[in-house]
Amino acid sequence: MILKNNITFTYKEFDKEEELDNSDRELLIAAKEAALNAYAPYSQFNVGAAVRLESGNVVLGTNVENAAFPSGICAERSALSNASCNFPDDNPVALAIAAITSEGLTAAPVSPCGNCRQVIAEEESRSGKGIRIILGGKNKIRVIEKGGDLLPLQFNRKSLKF
Ligand code: THU
Repeated sequence: MILKNNITFTYKEFDKEEELDNSDRELLIAAKEAALNAYAPYSQFNVGAAVRLESGNVVLGTNVENAAFPSGICAERSALSNASCNFPDDNPVALAIAAITSEGLTAAPVSPCGNCRQVIAEEESRSGKGIRIILGGKNKIRVIEKGGDLLPLQFNRKSLKF
């Protein structure tokens, strides 16, 4: 027997930052500010990320590039690693991302890469809680309720029976 399955998920789109909830708006502003501290001399694509923890604490990250390209890290993983190291018992509940180029904030929201989606999924399975993802562009903002929605049929700790 052949089963045909279909995976869909719903996310929100906003035109303006002012339409977001206060805490999401603040987190997105923090991500944009963080982008100014990115170290991205090779791509000139300056990405900032801000993680909100359950306590309300906000932890920042940026991409940090390297002449040996694979040694660089994305803003999302830098923020989530920073949060895990400094606040290991405080679960991430939201993550905002924004990217700035020579033309300013990107017009379209930037989505996390595959590696970062995997790391977001790990944090969700570690805490058992969804992480809301806020992707901020100049012309559009996307809000995805649960990071794991960006990684369907994921490999996670359950696959290893943890
Ligand atoms: N990058 C991020 O930091 N996050 C993303 O979501 C996409 C890409 C970084 C990696 C690299 O330093 C630069 O942006 C260009 O790919």
